[in-house]
Amino acid sequence: MPKERIGIMGGTFNPVHQGHIAMALAAMKTASLDRVLFLPDGQPPHKTGITPAEDRWRMLVAATVNLKHVEPCRMELDRAGTTYTFDTLTSLREQFPKADLYYIIGADTLMQLKNWYRWQEVLPLCTFLVCPRVGTDGAAELQAERKRLTALGGRFTSVTMELINVSSSEIREQLAAGLDTPRLPPQVREYASLMGLYGMVSAVPRAAEWMPRLFADLSAKRFAHSLGVAHSARALARNHGVDPLKAETAALLHDCAKCFPLKELQQIAQENHLTEDRVVLASNALLHAPVGAWMAERVYGVTDPEILEAIRVHTTGKAGMTPLDMVVFLADKVEPGRPAFPLLARMRMLAPLSLPRAMIASLEGTEEYVKDSGKDLHPQSREALDWIKANLT
Ligand SMILES: [Fe+2]
Ligand SMILES: [Fe+2]
Repeated sequence: MPKERIGIMGGTFNPVHQGHIAMALAAMKTASLDRVLFLPDGQPPHKTGITPAEDRWRMLVAATVNLKHVEPCRMELDRAGTTYTFDTLTSLREQFPKADLYYIIGADTLMQLKNWYRWQEVLPLCTFLVCPRVGTDGAAELQAERKRLTALGGRFTSVTMELINVSSSEIREQLAAGLDTPRLPPQVREYASLMGLYGMVSAVPRAAEWMPRLFADLSAKRFAHSLGVAHSARALARNHGVDPLKAETAALLHDCAKCFPLKELQQIAQENHLTEDRVVLASNALLHAPVGAWMAERVYGVTDPEILEAIRVHTTGKAGMTPLDMVVFLADKVEPGRPAFPLLARMRMLAPLSLPRAMIASLEGTEEYVKDSGKDLHPQSREALDWIKANLT
């Protein structure tokens, strides 16, 4: 059996951005890697005042969850004391004795390699995949250094990719200044903004208190999705004159009960008389909405009835939906991490323009879909559709 080829991306990831992701994907292609591990540092000795490890971890999880063959790894994060590449690679060799290791670096890092702890012993442990960096690529010193290290046993492969012109420090400055950050995945931007990282002021002050519980209760995919929905809900709320704080709060918590087993949802629903609807009680896809609203109130301490209602009706809709209800309902469908579905492009186009038209498109799309599997639209969705058509168009 051919040896597994594992790529390693080390770094602080403060925060992780498209440049890191582009490096990983390009390295994967160049060296036919089977997978790439992202290993965030714990608390590096030379960087003080750094963003807490758990925040950097959650942003990394959200940024990579939808990428195939890319896995965040906590090995360095949980290691006490100073993090050296020598220790990382030695541990990885022990963990994956049959694999070939490829350490992905920028060309600027290659120039620093000679300053690494036990660097001569690092050389035989991996092949370096060198990504071009602005200002260093093609430089004579770089070539000379690569030649010198190769003579000492180093193995280097150049990664073919566009030059990366983005850095975490630049992104931190942009965030602090309230500027756009197109090279930051929207879920990462949303997390940083909700947590008030990098000099931002959180629009949802209690988000920082909720985040550990939410992260623990949700799968990585669901967590990233919730950040995506919060991101889209804020944008849609601004478009349609809805309170962005309410929209973002409801969106962040809308799926807080989604990852519980159906039995647990049913137990909560029955004990608290949340619904009598048998169809809802039999389906995780529907029941997590009323249970989520209950949890938002009882576990997360949300008291605003409008926010709770938006969570409660986010799966089916209802007659008499408010603009806030529609914003959360639609943000759930159009968030940036949604895998493509037939109506997605149309929904993304309609939602910022007209909430009722986007709702009609969404509910009619659902109707088509359930009809194909021999079912009817849920009565509450039917009522929502009829009510919107009669009253809002
Ligand atoms: Fe949901
Ligand atoms: Fe959702």
